[in-house]
Amino acid sequence: MAATADTIFDQHLTARAFSLTSAFWFAFATSIGMVAAGYLIAPDFMANIPYLQFGRIRPIHVNLVLFGFVTPGLLAAAHYYVPRLLRTDLFSQKLGLMSVILWNVAVVSAVVSLSTGHSQGREYAELIWPVDMLVIVSFALVVLNLLMTVRRRKEPVLYVSIWYACAAVILTALTFSLGNVIWRPDTGALLGIPDAILLWFYGHNVFGLLLTPLTLGLAYYVIPIVTRNPLYSHTLSLIGFWSLLVVYTHIGTHHLLQVPVPTWLKVVATVDSVAMVIPVMVFLINIWYTAKGKLGEIHADIAGKFIFTGTIFYFFVSIQGSIMALPQVQRITHFNNWVIAHSHLGVLGFAGLSALGGLYYILPKITGKPLYSRFLADLQYWLVLIGIVGFTVVLTIAGLVQGNSWFAGETLYRTLPEIHSYYVVRLSIGLFIALAAYIGLYNVIRTIYFNPGEEA
Ligand code: HEM
Ligand code: HEM
Repeated sequence: MAATADTIFDQHLTARAFSLTSAFWFAFATSIGMVAAGYLIAPDFMANIPYLQFGRIRPIHVNLVLFGFVTPGLLAAAHYYVPRLLRTDLFSQKLGLMSVILWNVAVVSAVVSLSTGHSQGREYAELIWPVDMLVIVSFALVVLNLLMTVRRRKEPVLYVSIWYACAAVILTALTFSLGNVIWRPDTGALLGIPDAILLWFYGHNVFGLLLTPLTLGLAYYVIPIVTRNPLYSHTLSLIGFWSLLVVYTHIGTHHLLQVPVPTWLKVVATVDSVAMVIPVMVFLINIWYTAKGKLGEIHADIAGKFIFTGTIFYFFVSIQGSIMALPQVQRITHFNNWVIAHSHLGVLGFAGLSALGGLYYILPKITGKPLYSRFLADLQYWLVLIGIVGFTVVLTIAGLVQGNSWFAGETLYRTLPEIHSYYVVRLSIGLFIALAAYIGLYNVIRTIYFNPGEEA
């Protein structure tokens, strides 16, 4: 029996719920980012409302982009392509829906707790214990659903996207628990230097073992389909997978090169940060060779366009990252806007663009209807692209001004007027990204619920 839009709609409850989650929190998170950026220009522009102080708003923005926007976007796609590649249905749509509901309860609790000042004060691990638990349980439900789907598969061969999706959720459930020191509910922390080491082991794994594998898994799925080319090399895809796991797990201490952690650990982190060139280039060679000669097809497909552009940003952010892990370079770039540029380049340019591409790839498949507006999706692409490039240029220059001034012995206060205009430009560029997020939300809602398009 041919699948009608209604039956397709019922089959993909989880992917749809994660898509809506991602689109909604993208809009919310960028709005909060605008407020944070406003503070850096005029520190009392919010009249010192306690709930909206910079120290509370910043972690809300960061947690929302990570756990509200990018991860759910990538998970929406994974809940579509994992069953598809395994030629089976998702183990349970009900379980999936429960995981999305719990996920959103966790994200709302994060916003409420952080804005009311309940924070454990450790970067990327600010959430208090009860919220940590909610995150862990939602992750556990996702893990259960995906693994049970793998167990009941009809397809014996596990394509590399399955490896990446499963590794991402399993390893993150573990490193999240470890990094948040969940066996110490009161502080969520160890003491002193061991705590910093553990925190950054987890902190960089958020990017290395969650966002990166989910994004690579998605690219490995979508790019061959969009280009109608077979994957260039399955062997390379496995080398890339295992080298990513081996190398990425050692590099967290590159966040602590200016801290009295044992020197051998800094050496391992620096050497392995440079060795990241291996998994990164193995992936890029594989994907770019798969896409060779098919740039026209990629340009014509909105999902391919977002995801392929994400791979280009992956190249830049990773090369930049390897260079930033060299102590001589970090003496200038650490603790200033250079790192903020790198963060947005990675989390938005690489993982965020890909997550949006994932949404646009699956939406027609999970609704049985075409995307509500290709024009709006294109507009969103260009707005976000201008935003990322603009952020990178402005924040990198601001970072170099700060870093070089401090290196020359200048005080922090005297550098602030120097970078004020860069902050104004950053806020203005932020408007492009915020607008793009609201356009995306509108397009996603119209595609899912009020779509006049013909059934595909
Ligand atoms: C309207 C758009 C946005 C604006 C105005 C904005 C602004 C900001 C600001 C002001 C900070 C704090 C920087 C500091 O402490 O100096 C920040 C941090 C951050 N933002 Fe955004 N942001 C925006 C969108 C996004 C998006 C869409 C993402 C990811 C998808 C993102 C990811 C991050 C991350 C990961 C950090 C933490 C940086 C770090 O700790 O190094 N931002 N953002
Ligand atoms: C080869 C790959 C990469 C390497 C070697 C690398 C290296 C680094 C280094 C050395 C820092 C610390 C900078 C400092 O504090 O001075 C850093 C920070 C950061 N990186 Fe990367 N990076 C890589 C890829 C990525 C990717 C793909 C993402 C995003 C998906 C990302 C997101 C971030 C973020 C958000 C921070 C800021 C952390 C903070 O708040 O201090 N990085 N990276």
